[in-house]
Amino acid sequence: MPDARAFKASGPLRGTITVPGDKSISHRALMFSGLAVGESVIDGLLEGEDVLATAAAMRSMGCEVEHRGAAWHVHGVGVGGLLQPRTHLDMGNSGTSTRLLMGLVASHPITATFVGDASLSKRPMGRVIHPLSTMGADFTASPGGRLPLIVRGVCPAVPIEYRLPVASAQVKSALLLAGLNTPGITRVIEPVPTRDHSERMLRSFGAEVVREGDTISLTGEATLKPQRLTVPGDPSSAGFATVAATIVPGSRVVIKNVGLNDTRNGLYRVLEMMGANITHVQRREVGGEPVADLIVEASTLTGIEVPPEIAPAMIDEFPVLFVAAAMAQGRTVMRGLEELRVKESDRITAMATALAAIGARMEELPDGLIVEGTGGEALAGGATIATHPDHRIAMSMVVAGLASRAPVSLDDASPVATSYPQFFDQIAVLTGAA
Ligand code: S3P
Repeated sequence: MPDARAFKASGPLRGTITVPGDKSISHRALMFSGLAVGESVIDGLLEGEDVLATAAAMRSMGCEVEHRGAAWHVHGVGVGGLLQPRTHLDMGNSGTSTRLLMGLVASHPITATFVGDASLSKRPMGRVIHPLSTMGADFTASPGGRLPLIVRGVCPAVPIEYRLPVASAQVKSALLLAGLNTPGITRVIEPVPTRDHSERMLRSFGAEVVREGDTISLTGEATLKPQRLTVPGDPSSAGFATVAATIVPGSRVVIKNVGLNDTRNGLYRVLEMMGANITHVQRREVGGEPVADLIVEASTLTGIEVPPEIAPAMIDEFPVLFVAAAMAQGRTVMRGLEELRVKESDRITAMATALAAIGARMEELPDGLIVEGTGGEALAGGATIATHPDHRIAMSMVVAGLASRAPVSLDDASPVATSYPQFFDQIAVLTGAA
């Protein structure tokens, strides 16, 4: 059932929110716990649909995954101990679940069928099929290397050295996961650094993972020791309130528990380059990741040329940065973003179309967007936006609605539940509508 909603300017945003757990780290916490020998306990896990798809898949491969009290308890089967799933693995909308679990299955003696929703079934899986085939796994995929697909794992797999042709933490992590049950050393060369949550967390589980220059080496066959983990808040989710408070005049919000790993904090660096007023307080470490609370006050942004090399550290935040750029003084140039075309939707075209419909001015390029900002003037609004259905398009356009004169409607807000089920409640708190 589509969930249609409308948002419009409602005055300054005020108040405090605590962002839910990081989606990337939550997936990894479930997978690595499932491969440890014994019981791990996870606090702060994101309970969004994508992460629940990973939990269900780990269960169907023999791990006990239980939500007890505030924590999640995972009884792992040990590296090499995954069982043959009895039914297909339903990945829903989640690219991260799919690509990482394909790596996991590839080096186990099991066969798994992966299925997903319409959006996931359009996304390219060749990027993991190709290197995992070199390790010895066998695949039967739908045309174009897409879902539904079958992975026939092999044990023992062959360790490989693989240079990533695209900057992708999902591909890197799929290979590291496959490497866990593979004798010898699996090496991944990443010319551009991407999020390093897998490397950090694997080390804390006791695996030997070394980074030298741009090469990450993992020694298999690893034994993982169960852990007590705390998942820090998701900087991607925090980005929506950050941009909303920046562009809605008079706003001041406190956003607690924001993970600020250097491989994830690009949005905050770019907004600061544009003149945003963001103060980091209570800096600390949570689950081996740097975290702070953010105080965000409204400010007039100035357009910049966003350095393309920062893109991997904010790859999921461009939709909301496009909204910030639409309200900035002058022109913001954002390029080197081809990967956005193969996310949950084509996020360049989806956002260009959505922003144009509410009065923003921009030029769409094959690899990005050039946006002419209003200099702080509210956008016109007054349109119904196709969310495609993509959670980050929906949430970005809610933020745009908060800075628009006439209401901005979403044709379907339901995908928000994949990554940030508390989003609408938290926006209601900040706008005083709660
Ligand atoms: C993710 C990596 C990124 C990101 C996705 C989560 C991960 O994808 O867009 O939301 O958890 O590893 P790519 O690896 O395709 O860049």
